[in-house]
Amino acid sequence: MSNIPQIIIDTDPGQDDAAAILMALGLDKLNEIKLLALTCVAGNVPLHYTQKNARIICDWAQRSDIPVYAGAKKPLLKPLFTAEEVHGKTGLDGTKLHEPNTVLQEKNAAIFLAETLANASKNSITLCPIGPLTNLALAFSLNPQCIQGIKEIVIMGGTFFEAGNVTPNADFNFFVDPVAAQIVLQSGANIRIVPLDVTHKACITNERMEALRQLPNQNGKRFADILQSYERFDIQQFGLEGGPLHDPCAIAAAIRPEFFNQKSLYVEVDTSSGICEGATALDWHGKSGKTPNALWCYHIDDKSFFDYFTHAISALP
Ligand code: RIB
Ligand code: CA
Repeated sequence: MSNIPQIIIDTDPGQDDAAAILMALGLDKLNEIKLLALTCVAGNVPLHYTQKNARIICDWAQRSDIPVYAGAKKPLLKPLFTAEEVHGKTGLDGTKLHEPNTVLQEKNAAIFLAETLANASKNSITLCPIGPLTNLALAFSLNPQCIQGIKEIVIMGGTFFEAGNVTPNADFNFFVDPVAAQIVLQSGANIRIVPLDVTHKACITNERMEALRQLPNQNGKRFADILQSYERFDIQQFGLEGGPLHDPCAIAAAIRPEFFNQKSLYVEVDTSSGICEGATALDWHGKSGKTPNALWCYHIDDKSFFDYFTHAISALP
């Protein structure tokens, strides 16, 4: 059995999701990971776009062999809340899209996750959810024993020292489905959280965009075009120096945790419907007496991260 990390990405592409998926496909090409599948969820845009975009992205990397599954069309309880103002109507503004060749698997993503994790060797699969956590919550409800197959869940979501990006206190992923996020955080699995606290320090500056554009391959240039379209929202709203690469940070945290400082702590998600809906409440000083349930990333070595990201993208066609 290969000892390289076996990864499943749960995703709502989404431009920064595209960055994360391309990064993972590059690392797969370099044999640094094995990308087992993509499971898609409604989030940045509705499911019919997220699943189609995931397949388009696999085509861009000439990897139509990657199994792509469609899952939840909406959160567990709330109506779907999307982010077209950031990602565009299709979810992949900024570049020409085509009808994908990569096929969509028949099986529902939540059923695929429940079955695959239940049948996997113990603690063997790393899950990287980079969208709302609805599919994982459904899988854990379908078969709670499936958690045995999880080595670690590396989640892009949450915020504590940074203001929220969709409401004053919440990041988009945890706001869209706070109940699902709370189910996953309390599941007992090994969890590492990559919040806005670090992703807002991983911005694609013009210099970094140029480095991608100079890569001798199509995907570097295509990706720079997509990021050019993506970055305006966060620059206007937060005055950041470029678009924050939220989702690729989760891939990096799963494979190169040494790029991050993290703290073991207890965290829960606010499932109320007020100004704190979807907020992550952290017990930073261990005062609650509750057992820590996650590693919370609070700092990133952004230079090493971007060198690694560029290294992965450079392996693509
Ligand atoms: O808050 C940022 C997260 O929400 C990212 O995963 C982005 O793609 C959106 O899903
Ligand atoms: Ca996402």
